[in-house]
Amino acid sequence: MFTLKSFFVIVTIIICDLQISNGSVSLTIKKKNINEGVVSLTNFDDVIYYGEVSVGTPPQKFNVVFDTGSSNFWIPSTKWPTDTVYPHPKFNTEGSKTYTAKYDNTDKHKRKINVDITYTVGALKGTLSQDNLILGGIILEAQDFFVGFKPDLHMKKVKFDGILGLGLPSLKFAGTVSVLENLVNKKLITQHIFSIRMTPRKGPGADAGQIIFGGLNERHFLGKHFYVPVLSGKGFWNISMSQISVNGEDMKACAPQCFAFVDAGTTDIFGPKDEIMKIYAAVNTTKKQIACYKVKTLPVISFVIGGKSFSITRNNYAYEYLDRRGAKRCDLRLEQSDSNTWVLGIAFMEAYHTVFDIQDFNKPKIGFASAAP
Ligand SMILES: *[C@@H]1O[C@H](CO)[C@@H](O)[C@H](O)[C@H]1NC(C)=O
Ligand SMILES: *[C@@H]1O[C@H](CO)[C@@H](O)[C@H](O)[C@H]1NC(C)=O
Repeated sequence: MFTLKSFFVIVTIIICDLQISNGSVSLTIKKKNINEGVVSLTNFDDVIYYGEVSVGTPPQKFNVVFDTGSSNFWIPSTKWPTDTVYPHPKFNTEGSKTYTAKYDNTDKHKRKINVDITYTVGALKGTLSQDNLILGGIILEAQDFFVGFKPDLHMKKVKFDGILGLGLPSLKFAGTVSVLENLVNKKLITQHIFSIRMTPRKGPGADAGQIIFGGLNERHFLGKHFYVPVLSGKGFWNISMSQISVNGEDMKACAPQCFAFVDAGTTDIFGPKDEIMKIYAAVNTTKKQIACYKVKTLPVISFVIGGKSFSITRNNYAYEYLDRRGAKRCDLRLEQSDSNTWVLGIAFMEAYHTVFDIQDFNKPKIGFASAAP
Protein backbone atom coordinates (compact mmCIF):
# COMPACT_ATOMS: atom_id res chain seq x y z
CA MET A 1 0.00 0.00 0.00
CA PHE A 2 1.27 3.37 -0.90
CA THR A 3 1.53 5.98 1.77
CA LEU A 4 3.17 9.32 1.34
CA LYS A 5 5.31 8.56 4.31
CA SER A 6 6.74 5.54 2.62
CA PHE A 7 9.24 7.56 0.70
CA PHE A 8 10.17 10.11 3.28
CA VAL A 9 13.56 8.73 3.74
CA ILE A 10 14.48 8.23 0.17
CA VAL A 11 16.20 11.41 -0.37
CA THR A 12 19.34 12.43 1.31
CA ILE A 13 21.18 15.23 -0.34
CA ILE A 14 24.86 15.47 -0.66
CA ILE A 15 26.70 18.60 -1.39
CA CYS A 16 29.96 18.82 -3.14
CA ASP A 17 32.32 21.61 -3.68
CA LEU A 18 31.48 24.97 -5.04
CA GLN A 19 34.33 27.27 -5.86
CA ILE A 20 35.02 30.91 -6.11
CA SER A 21 35.66 31.92 -9.64
CA ASN A 22 38.47 34.35 -10.16
CA GLY A 23 38.10 33.90 -13.87
CA SER A 24 36.78 37.09 -15.37
CA VAL A 25 34.74 35.23 -17.93
CA SER A 26 32.44 33.49 -15.49
CA LEU A 27 32.24 36.59 -13.31
CA THR A 28 31.03 38.60 -16.26
CA ILE A 29 28.47 36.01 -17.15
CA LYS A 30 27.37 35.87 -13.54
CA LYS A 31 26.61 39.56 -13.39
CA LYS A 32 24.40 39.38 -16.43
CA ASN A 33 21.87 37.30 -14.65
CA ILE A 34 21.34 37.70 -10.93
CA ASN A 35 19.06 34.68 -10.92
CA GLU A 36 21.82 32.40 -12.06
CA GLY A 37 22.16 29.38 -9.82
CA VAL A 38 18.69 29.83 -8.34
CA VAL A 39 16.25 26.93 -8.53
CA SER A 40 12.71 27.30 -7.15
CA LEU A 41 11.47 24.46 -5.00
CA THR A 42 8.02 22.92 -4.93
CA ASN A 43 6.75 21.37 -1.71
CA PHE A 44 4.92 18.09 -2.25
CA ASP A 45 2.52 17.40 0.65
CA ASP A 46 5.10 18.50 3.23
CA VAL A 47 6.96 15.34 2.37
CA ILE A 48 9.60 16.39 -0.10
CA TYR A 49 10.85 19.42 -2.01
CA TYR A 50 11.92 19.29 -5.61
CA GLY A 51 12.95 21.70 -8.35
CA GLU A 52 13.42 21.74 -12.11
CA VAL A 53 16.67 21.06 -13.97
CA SER A 54 17.31 20.34 -17.65
CA VAL A 55 19.56 17.76 -19.25
CA GLY A 56 20.80 17.47 -22.85
CA THR A 57 20.79 19.49 -26.06
CA PRO A 58 18.10 20.59 -26.70
CA PRO A 59 17.25 20.58 -22.98
CA GLN A 60 14.82 18.02 -21.50
CA LYS A 61 13.22 19.00 -18.17
CA PHE A 62 13.02 17.02 -14.92
CA ASN A 63 11.88 17.70 -11.37
CA VAL A 64 14.59 16.47 -9.05
CA VAL A 65 15.08 16.26 -5.33
CA PHE A 66 18.24 18.05 -4.17
CA ASP A 67 19.50 15.45 -1.76
CA THR A 68 22.31 16.36 0.66
CA GLY A 69 22.49 12.73 1.80
CA SER A 70 23.75 11.22 -1.46
CA SER A 71 26.16 12.31 -4.19
CA ASN A 72 24.94 10.78 -7.45
CA PHE A 73 22.56 12.29 -9.98
CA TRP A 74 20.01 10.28 -11.95
CA ILE A 75 16.92 10.84 -14.07
CA PRO A 76 14.55 8.29 -15.64
CA SER A 77 15.23 7.01 -19.14
CA THR A 78 12.80 5.99 -21.86
CA LYS A 79 13.14 2.46 -20.44
CA TRP A 80 11.60 3.58 -17.14
CA PRO A 81 8.38 1.60 -16.61
CA THR A 82 5.01 3.25 -17.14
CA ASP A 83 3.24 1.57 -14.20
CA THR A 84 4.32 4.27 -11.77
CA VAL A 85 2.06 6.10 -9.32
CA TYR A 86 2.91 9.46 -10.93
CA PRO A 87 3.81 10.00 -14.57
CA HIS A 88 7.39 11.05 -15.31
CA PRO A 89 9.17 12.68 -18.23
CA LYS A 90 11.75 10.27 -19.62
CA PHE A 91 15.19 11.17 -20.86
CA ASN A 92 15.59 10.31 -24.50
CA THR A 93 19.31 9.81 -25.02
CA GLU A 94 18.95 9.82 -28.80
CA GLY A 95 17.19 13.15 -28.60
CA SER A 96 20.29 14.84 -27.16
CA LYS A 97 23.22 15.63 -29.42
CA THR A 98 25.55 16.13 -26.42
CA TYR A 99 24.75 12.78 -24.75
CA THR A 100 27.37 10.07 -24.31
CA ALA A 101 27.19 6.77 -22.46
CA LYS A 102 30.34 5.85 -20.59
CA TYR A 103 31.91 2.51 -21.35
CA ASP A 104 34.00 0.20 -19.27
CA ASN A 105 37.44 0.33 -20.88
CA THR A 106 38.69 -2.60 -18.86
CA ASP A 107 36.01 -4.78 -20.39
CA LYS A 108 36.92 -6.26 -23.76
CA HIS A 109 33.32 -5.92 -24.92
CA LYS A 110 33.34 -2.23 -23.88
CA ARG A 111 29.98 -2.57 -22.25
CA LYS A 112 28.01 0.29 -20.75
CA ILE A 113 28.34 0.75 -17.00
CA ASN A 114 25.13 -0.11 -15.18
CA VAL A 115 25.03 0.65 -11.48
CA ASP A 116 22.67 -0.11 -8.60
CA ILE A 117 21.78 3.12 -6.84
CA THR A 118 20.43 2.49 -3.37
CA TYR A 119 18.86 4.88 -0.90
CA THR A 120 17.59 4.38 2.64
CA VAL A 121 14.24 3.70 1.03
CA GLY A 122 14.17 2.89 -2.67
CA ALA A 123 16.65 1.72 -5.30
CA LEU A 124 17.09 1.63 -9.07
CA LYS A 125 19.48 0.64 -11.81
CA GLY A 126 21.07 3.29 -13.97
CA THR A 127 23.52 3.57 -16.87
CA LEU A 128 26.51 5.83 -16.33
CA SER A 129 26.27 8.71 -18.78
CA GLN A 130 27.43 12.23 -19.51
CA ASP A 131 25.55 15.22 -20.84
CA ASN A 132 24.99 18.91 -20.20
CA LEU A 133 23.08 19.77 -17.04
CA ILE A 134 21.36 23.12 -16.71
CA LEU A 135 20.99 24.12 -13.09
CA GLY A 136 19.25 27.45 -12.49
CA GLY A 137 20.72 28.79 -15.72
CA ILE A 138 24.24 27.48 -15.02
CA ILE A 139 25.38 25.10 -17.75
CA LEU A 140 27.47 22.21 -16.49
CA GLU A 141 28.98 20.57 -19.53
CA ALA A 142 29.73 16.87 -19.53
CA GLN A 143 28.11 16.19 -16.18
CA ASP A 144 28.29 12.57 -15.05
CA PHE A 145 24.87 11.13 -14.25
CA PHE A 146 22.83 7.94 -14.52
CA VAL A 147 19.89 7.26 -16.76
CA GLY A 148 17.64 5.14 -14.59
CA PHE A 149 15.82 2.16 -16.03
CA LYS A 150 14.82 -0.24 -13.29
CA PRO A 151 13.17 1.27 -10.22
CA ASP A 152 12.14 -0.86 -7.26
CA LEU A 153 8.62 -0.64 -5.83
CA HIS A 154 9.47 2.39 -3.70
CA MET A 155 10.89 4.33 -6.62
CA LYS A 156 7.77 3.59 -8.64
CA LYS A 157 5.78 5.56 -6.08
CA VAL A 158 7.70 8.80 -5.96
CA LYS A 159 6.34 12.11 -7.16
CA PHE A 160 9.71 13.54 -8.26
CA ASP A 161 11.50 12.44 -11.44
CA GLY A 162 15.08 12.06 -10.25
CA ILE A 163 17.55 12.75 -7.46
CA LEU A 164 20.44 15.18 -7.65
CA GLY A 165 22.90 14.38 -4.89
CA LEU A 166 24.66 17.25 -3.14
CA GLY A 167 26.56 15.21 -0.57
CA LEU A 168 30.32 15.32 -0.27
CA PRO A 169 32.37 13.41 -2.86
CA SER A 170 33.12 10.36 -0.73
CA LEU A 171 29.49 9.30 -1.22
CA LYS A 172 29.57 9.34 -5.02
CA PHE A 173 30.01 6.42 -7.38
CA ALA A 174 33.77 5.95 -7.81
CA GLY A 175 35.28 7.49 -10.91
CA THR A 176 32.50 10.00 -11.49
CA VAL A 177 32.52 13.77 -10.97
CA SER A 178 29.62 14.93 -8.82
CA VAL A 179 27.55 18.00 -9.62
CA LEU A 180 29.22 19.97 -6.82
CA GLU A 181 32.68 18.98 -7.98
CA ASN A 182 31.82 19.94 -11.54
CA LEU A 183 30.54 23.36 -10.39
CA VAL A 184 33.79 23.97 -8.53
CA ASN A 185 36.20 22.50 -11.06
CA LYS A 186 34.77 24.55 -13.89
CA LYS A 187 34.55 27.70 -11.76
CA LEU A 188 30.87 28.09 -12.45
CA ILE A 189 30.03 29.61 -9.08
CA THR A 190 31.70 32.65 -7.55
CA GLN A 191 31.20 31.65 -3.92
CA HIS A 192 31.74 28.02 -2.99
CA ILE A 193 28.49 27.57 -1.13
CA PHE A 194 24.92 26.60 -1.73
CA SER A 195 21.97 27.57 0.39
CA ILE A 196 18.54 26.05 0.94
CA ARG A 197 15.32 27.71 1.99
CA MET A 198 12.32 25.50 2.60
CA THR A 199 9.06 27.07 3.65
CA PRO A 200 6.00 24.94 4.28
CA ARG A 201 3.80 26.99 1.94
CA LYS A 202 1.43 24.89 -0.11
CA GLY A 203 -0.58 25.00 -3.27
CA PRO A 204 0.23 25.17 -6.94
CA GLY A 205 2.65 27.94 -7.78
CA ALA A 206 3.43 28.58 -4.10
CA ASP A 207 6.95 29.78 -3.54
CA ALA A 208 7.89 26.92 -1.27
CA GLY A 209 11.58 27.62 -1.28
CA GLN A 210 14.78 27.92 -3.22
CA ILE A 211 18.14 26.31 -3.55
CA ILE A 212 20.85 28.75 -4.60
CA PHE A 213 24.13 27.49 -6.03
CA GLY A 214 26.93 29.96 -5.33
CA GLY A 215 25.10 32.28 -2.97
CA LEU A 216 22.25 33.10 -0.65
CA ASN A 217 19.32 35.46 -0.53
CA GLU A 218 19.16 37.88 2.43
CA ARG A 219 15.39 37.69 2.37
CA HIS A 220 15.44 33.98 3.21
CA PHE A 221 16.69 34.30 6.80
CA LEU A 222 16.82 36.50 9.90
CA GLY A 223 20.06 37.60 11.57
CA LYS A 224 23.32 35.87 10.82
CA HIS A 225 24.29 32.29 10.12
CA PHE A 226 25.96 30.32 12.87
CA TYR A 227 28.60 28.02 11.35
CA VAL A 228 29.78 24.66 12.60
CA PRO A 229 32.40 22.33 11.13
CA VAL A 230 31.34 19.23 9.22
CA LEU A 231 32.80 15.82 10.11
CA SER A 232 32.99 14.81 6.51
CA GLY A 233 34.57 11.37 6.66
CA LYS A 234 31.76 9.42 5.01
CA GLY A 235 30.52 12.22 2.81
CA PHE A 236 27.46 13.21 4.82
CA TRP A 237 26.92 16.77 6.05
CA ASN A 238 27.52 15.41 9.52
CA ILE A 239 27.79 17.71 12.54
CA SER A 240 28.21 17.31 16.29
CA MET A 241 25.41 18.00 18.79
CA SER A 242 25.80 18.17 22.57
CA GLN A 243 22.27 18.18 23.96
CA ILE A 244 18.64 17.61 23.05
CA SER A 245 15.99 19.08 25.30
CA VAL A 246 12.23 19.08 25.45
CA ASN A 247 10.60 22.13 26.99
CA GLY A 248 14.01 23.08 28.41
CA GLU A 249 14.58 19.72 30.05
CA ASP A 250 17.74 17.84 29.04
CA MET A 251 16.72 14.48 27.59
CA LYS A 252 20.20 13.02 28.25
CA ALA A 253 19.85 11.73 24.73
CA CYS A 254 23.11 13.13 23.49
CA ALA A 255 25.81 13.10 26.13
CA PRO A 256 28.56 14.13 25.94
CA GLN A 257 27.98 14.42 22.22
CA CYS A 258 26.14 12.80 19.37
CA PHE A 259 26.13 13.30 15.60
CA ALA A 260 23.56 14.39 13.07
CA PHE A 261 23.61 14.92 9.33
CA VAL A 262 21.59 17.58 7.64
CA ASP A 263 19.47 16.06 4.93
CA ALA A 264 17.28 18.00 2.53
CA GLY A 265 16.14 14.66 1.11
CA THR A 266 14.57 13.32 4.30
CA THR A 267 11.22 14.49 5.57
CA ASP A 268 11.55 13.89 9.28
CA ILE A 269 14.05 13.97 12.11
CA PHE A 270 15.51 10.54 12.86
CA GLY A 271 17.37 9.43 15.94
CA PRO A 272 18.53 6.25 17.67
CA LYS A 273 15.58 4.19 19.01
CA ASP A 274 16.18 4.70 22.72
CA GLU A 275 16.77 8.41 22.38
CA ILE A 276 13.64 8.98 20.32
CA MET A 277 11.69 6.98 22.95
CA LYS A 278 12.89 9.47 25.58
CA ILE A 279 11.49 12.35 23.54
CA TYR A 280 8.23 10.49 22.94
CA ALA A 281 7.94 9.92 26.70
CA ALA A 282 8.55 13.60 27.37
CA VAL A 283 5.58 14.47 25.18
CA ASN A 284 3.44 11.68 26.69
CA THR A 285 3.42 9.26 23.79
CA THR A 286 5.01 5.92 23.00
CA LYS A 287 4.77 6.17 19.23
CA LYS A 288 4.86 8.79 16.53
CA GLN A 289 1.07 8.80 16.03
CA ILE A 290 -0.58 11.19 18.45
CA ALA A 291 -4.11 12.41 19.02
CA CYS A 292 -4.58 15.64 17.09
CA TYR A 293 -6.03 17.51 20.07
CA LYS A 294 -2.65 17.07 21.80
CA VAL A 295 -0.73 18.86 19.08
CA LYS A 296 -1.44 22.33 20.41
CA THR A 297 0.25 21.52 23.73
CA LEU A 298 3.42 20.07 22.22
CA PRO A 299 6.51 21.77 23.68
CA VAL A 300 9.60 23.22 22.02
CA ILE A 301 12.39 20.76 21.21
CA SER A 302 15.94 22.09 21.14
CA PHE A 303 19.12 20.72 19.61
CA VAL A 304 22.38 22.18 20.87
CA ILE A 305 24.82 22.48 17.99
CA GLY A 306 28.22 24.11 18.45
CA GLY A 307 27.08 25.28 21.88
CA LYS A 308 24.08 27.12 20.46
CA SER A 309 20.52 25.98 20.92
CA PHE A 310 18.33 25.50 17.84
CA SER A 311 14.67 25.12 18.70
CA ILE A 312 11.81 23.76 16.69
CA THR A 313 8.14 24.01 17.55
CA ARG A 314 5.10 21.83 16.95
CA ASN A 315 4.65 23.70 13.67
CA ASN A 316 7.85 22.06 12.52
CA TYR A 317 7.64 18.61 14.07
CA ALA A 318 3.93 17.74 14.11
CA TYR A 319 2.29 16.69 10.86
CA GLU A 320 -1.43 16.75 10.22
CA TYR A 321 -2.97 14.82 7.32
CA LEU A 322 -6.15 13.15 6.20
CA ASP A 323 -6.35 9.36 6.18
CA ARG A 324 -8.05 7.30 3.47
CA ARG A 325 -11.46 7.95 4.95
CA GLY A 326 -10.83 11.67 5.18
CA ALA A 327 -10.33 11.72 8.95
CA LYS A 328 -7.71 14.04 10.42
CA ARG A 329 -4.61 12.27 11.75
CA CYS A 330 -1.48 13.57 13.43
CA ASP A 331 2.07 12.27 13.50
CA LEU A 332 5.25 13.47 15.10
CA ARG A 333 8.02 14.02 12.59
CA LEU A 334 10.43 12.30 14.96
CA GLU A 335 11.30 8.77 14.00
CA GLN A 336 13.41 5.91 15.20
CA SER A 337 16.28 4.65 13.11
CA ASP A 338 18.85 1.90 13.42
CA SER A 339 21.69 4.31 13.01
CA ASN A 340 23.52 6.13 15.79
CA THR A 341 23.72 9.29 13.72
CA TRP A 342 20.70 11.57 13.89
CA VAL A 343 19.18 12.96 10.71
CA LEU A 344 18.00 16.55 10.66
CA GLY A 345 15.59 16.44 7.75
CA ILE A 346 13.08 18.86 6.33
CA ALA A 347 11.28 19.13 9.72
CA PHE A 348 14.42 20.92 10.96
CA MET A 349 15.39 22.69 7.74
CA GLU A 350 12.02 24.42 7.46
CA ALA A 351 12.91 26.24 10.69
CA TYR A 352 16.52 27.01 9.76
CA HIS A 353 17.85 28.41 6.51
CA THR A 354 20.97 26.39 5.78
CA VAL A 355 24.22 27.28 4.05
CA PHE A 356 26.42 24.40 2.90
CA ASP A 357 29.94 25.76 2.65
CA ILE A 358 32.79 24.14 0.71
CA GLN A 359 35.16 27.06 0.37
CA ASP A 360 37.78 24.74 1.75
CA PHE A 361 36.67 21.46 0.39
CA ASN A 362 38.56 19.56 3.06
CA LYS A 363 36.87 21.55 5.78
CA PRO A 364 33.21 21.88 4.88
CA LYS A 365 30.96 23.92 7.18
CA ILE A 366 27.27 24.32 7.72
CA GLY A 367 25.60 27.57 8.72
CA PHE A 368 22.12 27.91 10.20
CA ALA A 369 20.01 31.05 10.55
CA SER A 370 16.35 31.32 11.52
CA ALA A 371 14.22 31.03 8.42
CA ALA A 372 12.46 34.22 7.46
CA PRO A 373 8.70 33.83 7.68
C1 LIG B 1 29.32 11.35 11.87
O1 LIG B 1 30.56 11.55 12.49
C2 LIG B 1 30.85 10.69 13.60
C3 LIG B 1 32.17 11.12 14.22
O2 LIG B 1 33.16 11.15 13.27
C4 LIG B 1 30.85 9.25 13.12
O3 LIG B 1 31.05 8.39 14.21
C5 LIG B 1 29.52 8.94 12.45
O4 LIG B 1 29.54 7.63 11.91
C6 LIG B 1 29.26 9.94 11.33
N1 LIG B 1 27.97 9.65 10.74
C7 LIG B 1 27.76 9.64 9.43
C8 LIG B 1 26.38 9.31 8.98
O5 LIG B 1 28.64 9.91 8.62
C1 LIG C 1 2.45 15.01 29.97
O1 LIG C 1 1.75 14.58 31.11
C2 LIG C 1 2.08 15.29 32.29
C3 LIG C 1 1.40 14.61 33.46
O2 LIG C 1 0.07 14.35 33.18
C4 LIG C 1 1.69 16.75 32.12
O3 LIG C 1 2.07 17.49 33.27
C5 LIG C 1 2.40 17.33 30.91
O4 LIG C 1 1.96 18.66 30.66
C6 LIG C 1 2.12 16.48 29.68
N1 LIG C 1 2.94 16.98 28.58
C7 LIG C 1 2.49 17.14 27.34
C8 LIG C 1 3.44 17.66 26.35
O5 LIG C 1 1.34 16.87 27.04
